[in-house]
Amino acid sequence: MSVLSGKKIILGVSGGIAAYKTATLVRLLIKAGAQVQVIMTPASKDFVTPLTLSTLSKNPVYSSFFNEEDENALWNNHVDLALWADLMIIAPATANTLSKMVSGNSDNLLLATYLSAKCPVYFAPAMDLDMYKHASTLANFHVLKEFGDTIIPAENGELASGLSGEGRMAEPENIVAFLERDLESKLPLRGKKVLVTAGPTYEAIDPVRFIGNHSSGKMGYDIAKAAANLGAEVILVSGPTHLDLKHPLVQLERVTSAQEMYDACHRYFNAVDVAVSAAAVADYRPKNVASQKIKKNEATFSIELEKTKDILASLGEIKTRQFLIGFALETENEIEHAKQKIQKKNLDLIVLNSLNDSGAGFGKPTNKVTFIDKNFLVEPMELKSKEAVAQDIVNKIIAHYHA
Ligand code: CTP
Repeated sequence: MSVLSGKKIILGVSGGIAAYKTATLVRLLIKAGAQVQVIMTPASKDFVTPLTLSTLSKNPVYSSFFNEEDENALWNNHVDLALWADLMIIAPATANTLSKMVSGNSDNLLLATYLSAKCPVYFAPAMDLDMYKHASTLANFHVLKEFGDTIIPAENGELASGLSGEGRMAEPENIVAFLERDLESKLPLRGKKVLVTAGPTYEAIDPVRFIGNHSSGKMGYDIAKAAANLGAEVILVSGPTHLDLKHPLVQLERVTSAQEMYDACHRYFNAVDVAVSAAAVADYRPKNVASQKIKKNEATFSIELEKTKDILASLGEIKTRQFLIGFALETENEIEHAKQKIQKKNLDLIVLNSLNDSGAGFGKPTNKVTFIDKNFLVEPMELKSKEAVAQDIVNKIIAHYHA
């Protein structure tokens, strides 16, 4: 999955011949899963039509502060547009537009939006080779970099003037590859390894029966996905679930029993920076597993159970640098019990689920949690989707490394 997936992107098109290539650029951004809002300078409309770009971007294209043909139309608010965006790309960025960006000129919607943008801005210059090398252009690049903007360098090749040299706007494929590389290198969990456990465990009674629980695994899978989306390498150790997670940064290892989950966690723990124990591990398992299917010969039947190993507590015992997050599901004295669990299992953070909250827990799409850290700082959260809770948990991991 591309790092551009789900990103809200403003594509600012200024008036150079390379504007015709923005049709391909919009298509590639949409294909990568981004939402694209195109803003054109008036001059750029001579090179590519707004209809082409609105069709490809699936959004109306803006080019002026108001719609001249419709006096009832709303003002195109450059501030709202700029705040909507996760990133802004100006491609092609002509020498004229670049110099206006440097001087803070805002005589068109694209420039006004640029000045209002708080998101990262990328610009892909396009001009003739002598213009590209001119001291004034180089000075503009320098100032824009000082502003925090990122240049997507022009490429070498045939130019519209008939000359050949540096100045061609980077090919759309290369612009997308540049953005992906740059964004990936800045992901906050890049370089971190995260172990996540998820789902129930099944404890065999005989070859066909087991003791299990209703955990869907969704919470753990959502955490794994959110961490991977932010650049972490994730090992997801999952008990039996119907879920799947295909992501280049997620290694999914399926296990069945608590003992198998324990073994898998201990195999990986030394190499990871973070471990999140979201699995609903069985606390007990049948002491003896029948080798043949048990016949219903008796009127009553009992199974002797023995404790499984507490995986999380065992990780807490051997942890060195690892940031260790556990879950707690309590029905009474919630905060007190959760605090005891932090100490007993040597955790850095516990995510407390209370069964007293409707809408939270097993099999529901939502969850209401309270975070308690190792210093016993208690932070109750709102009821939200499990995806949003997963994001909050991942934000706690980020805060730990970027405090
Ligand atoms: N856990 C684990 N291995 C077990 C049992 C639990 O790793 N054998 C982890 C869960 O993944 C979760 C936390 O421990 O992160 C939950 O603990 P919980 O089951 O709520 O509490 P217990 O420590 O088992 O204590 P009790 O059941 O008595 O409340």
